[in-house]
Parts: sequence; C-alpha cells; structure tokens
Amino acid sequence: MAEIARQRWSAERYAETAHFVPALGAPVLEMLAPSPGEHILDLGCGDGVLTEKIVATGATVIAVDAGPDMVAAARARGIDARVMDGQKLTFSGEFDAVFSNAALHWMRDQQAVLAGVHRALRPGGRFVAEMGGHNNTAAIIVALSAVLARRGLGAHRLNPWYFPSAEAYRKKLEQAHFTVEEIAIIPRPTTLPTGIEAWLDTFAEDFLGPLPQPDRSRARAEVADLLRPVLMDETGTWIADYVRLRFRATRAE
Ligand code: BEZ
Repeated sequence: MAEIARQRWSAERYAETAHFVPALGAPVLEMLAPSPGEHILDLGCGDGVLTEKIVATGATVIAVDAGPDMVAAARARGIDARVMDGQKLTFSGEFDAVFSNAALHWMRDQQAVLAGVHRALRPGGRFVAEMGGHNNTAAIIVALSAVLARRGLGAHRLNPWYFPSAEAYRKKLEQAHFTVEEIAIIPRPTTLPTGIEAWLDTFAEDFLGPLPQPDRSRARAEVADLLRPVLMDETGTWIADYVRLRFRATRAE
C-alpha cells in the first residue's frame, strides 16, 4: 500500500531553514536542460523556488507536492501547482520530462512512483532527478538511533527516508521500463545555515515527533551533542553528511 511520511511541511519553516535545498539544485537543473515549449512535470516541487527556474526557460510546467502548504507557496509564485502524492500520479503520456529534486527519498513505494512517472511521460520522455543516495545523512541517522534507543525506541521503524545506491536504483528504473543514461552517487557536504537543531525540527519530525515534550527538546539536544564532534567545523558551522543520487533515464517503451 502506498504510504506517505508523517512529516508535516510548513512553507515558512522551509524557507527559513531549508532554502539551501533548491539553491543547491543547479546541477540537476542543468542535467534536465529544459527547452522552451517543453511540457515538464516537477515532482515534489516544495515551495516552487526551483520550479520557477524551469518556467523561466520557457517550458510549460505542472508542479505537484504532497504538502498543501508547500503547494500554496508555489501557487503564490504563479506556478500551476497541485496537491498530489507522488506515489499516486494521475497523468498520462503528457510530459516531455519529469523532474524531481530532493523529494523521491520521502516516498516509500518506489514501484508506484516509477510506474506513475513512466505513465506521465510520452514514449522517449526523460526522467531527471536528484535524491538522497546511499549513506546520506548517515551520521545523523546513527545519532537519532542512539538517542531513541536510550528511550527504548527503534529508529528503523520510524525512518521515513529511502537512500538507495546507484546500483539498486538503476535496477529499479530498469524494472520500471526506463533506459538509464546516467546515474551517480555524489557526496555533497552541506552547510546547514540554521544549525542542526533547526534542521532536525524541519526534517526529522518522524523520529522525534513521537516523543512528548519536554523530552523531545532534550532528545534533540542529545542528538546535537553526539553530532557536534563530527559535523561541526572549527568555526562553529554545521556541515551535514549529504550524499546525492543523480540520474537521467528515458521511458523505454
Ligand atoms: C536530503 O535532501 O538529502 C534529505 C532531506 C531530508 C532528510 C534527510 C536528507
């Protein structure tokens, strides 16, 4: 059954603590190479910052996201954005390309995602995306696991993220009838402009949300304490252990 993470998205909080996500999207946008007049689906558009860049190339873009607040923010930019679960796409043969940045790793049912993307593309259309790859935020996940284990909770059960290796995801794409033209793992240490605790509030709600306050704040501080020696540099800047999986594939049939 298609399942969606419990994470709730606030466009205001996202703009404050996660603006680096679309800002670092230039390489995947370059791989998309949109042309004027193309019909493009942006899957998991967030607040539409990157979508706007695709629109600016002259492409016609429809954007979808599961978060109503994010869709409202994208619409406020004039984007044709719709609330839609990426695991239940309803399009059929209408796009030259499907694009996605930093969204696929939130979707548990990848088979459903890939079937929906395949259906949405015209034959020969391209699927260009970047997501978290194998070992993404590994230190953060280990720290969360340790802090939850102190409370008798298993992080594995709460983890909403899917960070595949290039080999594993290539197989999934091929099984879903895509031809993979390029797929690579790219380590990308990422500065967290508002620090690790704000990052945890924005992205790790599935892990810490089940804890009652005030223990939730205490647990968040414990995670930060564990991570400080490995993710904070000598100037006091938090740099997270991000790893990207970036690929371009085409609909084979
Ligand atoms: C990412 O974009 O890599 C990411 C997003 C949320 C949680 C962890 C990683």
